[in-house]
Amino acid sequence: MNAPTMQGLTLNEPKYVKNAKLIAWVAEMAALTQPKDIYWCDGSEEEYARLCQQLVDAGTFQKLNPAKRPNSFLAQSDPSDVARVEDRTYICSEKKEDAGPTNNWMAPAEMRATLAPLFKGSMKGRTMYVVPFSMGPLGSPIAHIGIELSDSPYVAVNMRTMTRMGAAVYDVLGVDGDFVPCVHTVGAPLEAGQADVKWPCNKTKYIVHYPETREIWSYGSGYGGNALLGKKCFALRIASTMGRDQGWLAEHMLILGVTNPQGKKYHVAAAFPSACGKTNFSMLVPPTGFEGWKVTTIGDDIAWIKPQADGSLRAINPEAGYFGVAPGTNYKTNPNCMRSLDKNVIFTNVALTDDGDVWWEGMEDDVAGKALPAHLIDWQGKDWTPQIAKETGAKAAHPNARFTVAAINNPALDEAWDDPKGVKIDAFIFGGRRSTTVPLVTEARNWTEGVYMAATMGSETTAAAAGQQGVVRRDPFAMLPFMGYNMADYFQHWLKLGQKLEASGATLPKIYTTNWFRKGADGKFVWPGYGENMRVLKWMIDRIEGANTGSEHIFGVSPAYADINWTGLDFTPAQFDTVTSIDRAAWLKELDLHTELFQQLAYHLPAELVQTKEKLAAGLAA
Ligand code: OXD
Ligand code: MN
Repeated sequence: MNAPTMQGLTLNEPKYVKNAKLIAWVAEMAALTQPKDIYWCDGSEEEYARLCQQLVDAGTFQKLNPAKRPNSFLAQSDPSDVARVEDRTYICSEKKEDAGPTNNWMAPAEMRATLAPLFKGSMKGRTMYVVPFSMGPLGSPIAHIGIELSDSPYVAVNMRTMTRMGAAVYDVLGVDGDFVPCVHTVGAPLEAGQADVKWPCNKTKYIVHYPETREIWSYGSGYGGNALLGKKCFALRIASTMGRDQGWLAEHMLILGVTNPQGKKYHVAAAFPSACGKTNFSMLVPPTGFEGWKVTTIGDDIAWIKPQADGSLRAINPEAGYFGVAPGTNYKTNPNCMRSLDKNVIFTNVALTDDGDVWWEGMEDDVAGKALPAHLIDWQGKDWTPQIAKETGAKAAHPNARFTVAAINNPALDEAWDDPKGVKIDAFIFGGRRSTTVPLVTEARNWTEGVYMAATMGSETTAAAAGQQGVVRRDPFAMLPFMGYNMADYFQHWLKLGQKLEASGATLPKIYTTNWFRKGADGKFVWPGYGENMRVLKWMIDRIEGANTGSEHIFGVSPAYADINWTGLDFTPAQFDTVTSIDRAAWLKELDLHTELFQQLAYHLPAELVQTKEKLAAGLAA
């Protein structure tokens, strides 16, 4: 091998790369994108250090003060490239109805014709990195392999933290193993002699998925889920279609283990929309009143869940790191996360302190009366002082500023986090972000009702995606931006899975819906959230154990004030009422919004969901 490509480029693949399809594809992509050279990542520590230094030399990274944050770096992106771009994200299935009304769609042939001229020569003057990665423990029956070709060394180093990336992937791939091909370019070719910028990207952006051929093509952005293609593009959009075809689930869910003082352990998978506290919940520290309880993290964002012969559901975290939202994180809201960030971190779009450390909004909130830093360099490289912030509202860190850190940094990491068999799921939680209407917690009375709750979830939008924030939109299963196929077919997939598990005689996981975000008349959150969510989790576990606590209402079963352990928290029955009350008028309006969603999703919408809505409406009218 090592033959030159059409452009005279040498492929230079290492001897241990023996997969003919992979080699041919790299040659084809190199001929298209015309990089100056090709570099095959091996995932070694030495390689990571070298690429980070290269990023420092290029001005993309600043090395943080090693006495404060050993082996850590700060990247500041182009101000136009700070979040996922949902309006530029496409599902290009052959038939429009297979992408469904919630996705942007273009026919594959038309999209290929659109992308071809953009990708042609798009890597000129840059290195093409070949990034081999496994989503899930190497060789796990639940895991799958991807190869990302990217002209961004920032992507290569982030992928090393976020996935099992490196040469060992080729052992699993073998000569004829399958992989998901992922092509990524920042879309900023360097013509002869042109100087580079510290965050190359392009105004034009396309994040494209071809579900039938399981390909990902990403153009123009270097940020997060747009560029680290193992995450949202593969582990959710492409994997959800694989799950549909093969009978499993790819979900926007954290996975946690919770162990009671007697040593009995439960596993919970929880879906929350982006930037709604999934990382916090997955690293929860039980509060006063829960001595002897332990919460451990399996994953903070994505779960791949496969049904087993015995009717159980086993889940893995396909990722190996956390790409979490920094603002709001502090020693009070998430101490385990703060400890995870002690060393070996890549920060993106947070602020730089005068002593070479990082800062973001919310860091000062862990201790009452803590002073703000007197001076910072903000995420755009400008001076920031508390006075400037007061006068202009300037944020030191971008609201979607992120950290990239390995799971092994997490002091609350579950011992089974890397177990190829995964963990058995006992309960699912679906949590929206709603200032009004939706109560703190409700248990579905059966699987169909749970699917209905998940399907009709609404949530206020956050800074994780470009666009307006705080607008309520339906976000079924917290998967709206991440569904790889028709949302109504996905509802059916969940219903069918429930029927299959039920038929096997297994006990199905319970399904809950939560809302930590109800506000009082003063516009402030009423529920304290964070570690205090343990109180709700404990009630769920009581229910799993068969305790007859809580009472049934129109939508399911919710706890009464007396059903919750309040030791160590001053939370009055009146406050509890504010976060749990059901306002009939608001719910009549809410059901109208469910009707609107169902009209939008009418094609293939499961009849069971319409019937469930009718039952709820009848209950409300009674
Ligand atoms: C994420 C997101 O980055 O959901 O996890 O946007
Ligand atoms: Mn997410």
